[in-house]
Amino acid sequence: MNRVITLGEFIISRQGDFPYAKGELSSLLSAIRLAAKVVNREVNRAGLSIDILGSAHNHNIQGEEQQKLDVYADEQFMASLMARGEVCGMASEENENFISFDTPLARSGKYVVLIDPLDGSSNIDVNVSIGTIFSVYRRISPIGQLASLEDFMQPGTEQVAAGYIIYGSSTMLVYSTGYGVHGFTLDPSIGTFFLSHPHIRIPELGCIYSVNEGNYMGFDSPVQDYINYCRSHDNDHEKPYSSRYIGSLVADFHRNLLKGGIYMYPATTKDPNGKLRLLYECNPLAFIAEQAGGAASTGYERILDINPKTLHQRVPFFVGSKDMVERISSMMKK
Ligand code: AHG
Ligand code: MN
Ligand code: MN
Repeated sequence: MNRVITLGEFIISRQGDFPYAKGELSSLLSAIRLAAKVVNREVNRAGLSIDILGSAHNHNIQGEEQQKLDVYADEQFMASLMARGEVCGMASEENENFISFDTPLARSGKYVVLIDPLDGSSNIDVNVSIGTIFSVYRRISPIGQLASLEDFMQPGTEQVAAGYIIYGSSTMLVYSTGYGVHGFTLDPSIGTFFLSHPHIRIPELGCIYSVNEGNYMGFDSPVQDYINYCRSHDNDHEKPYSSRYIGSLVADFHRNLLKGGIYMYPATTKDPNGKLRLLYECNPLAFIAEQAGGAASTGYERILDINPKTLHQRVPFFVGSKDMVERISSMMKK
């Protein structure tokens, strides 16, 4: 069967979910859709141009080397969001501070966006799937003023929308506004996203575990015990789970969302808060996971309940099939 519902049509058809919103959220999602297509075009021809591949010879606030595509994607999403006037500010992995959009149009915007513009940077140069992750909140500061820090420092439960784009063997946009999770695949020949994965549900129990096992020696013993459970014949599948780790969070999460599994970036002795950032990596994917029937935890606490302390805060992250996240959480709490 040919898929005939476009992302644009779908967004408009769901406006009734937000009767108070008068279409602003639709316009915001359209801005993300547009930037995604522009970034997708550059990702697709990355190997052909030295203007796209490689380092930007700069470091972001977290001391990580920025790639040219990190910077390019950041600029594209910002420009697209700024142009519409629904968003009054944006916080990004690539910028130390949040950015208030200081135009009369943007000051009246109701929303803020937090974004990891390009996730999986280390995979750009080797033609492996990468992504974008985004999170949308209603602003707290008064409409008409500049965005303020409190707008960005809300717990994940307050998200009004979240999603990701995966630039993979095909390009997909997956998002939720709190009414289930829906996936759209880009037809590159006409530049249109079509609804291909309506009402995504993650299997409650999977048989894939995804973790950087190079860090095994630095994990706490309950995490080591859980990994050994995954590898053993004595687990609920009575045979070892499959180990799958791409190193792009979006791609690892997406596979596990469709097939069932758990993604883990635990604390290590070197990094006691893990690596992943709460506000623009963990919260949006936790929102998607829960909306699809899965779960997300630090091992001790539901991700969406955390009150953020800083913009670039890191947290240990366990996300995916509900039974798997619950099992490791109960082993950690013992
Ligand atoms: P980013 O490229 O946005 O900095 O994110 C990289 C993250 C994430 O995509 C991935 O899951 C993780 O880093 C991989 O880290 P390790 O190389 O330590 O496994
Ligand atoms: Mn990332
Ligand atoms: Mn990134």
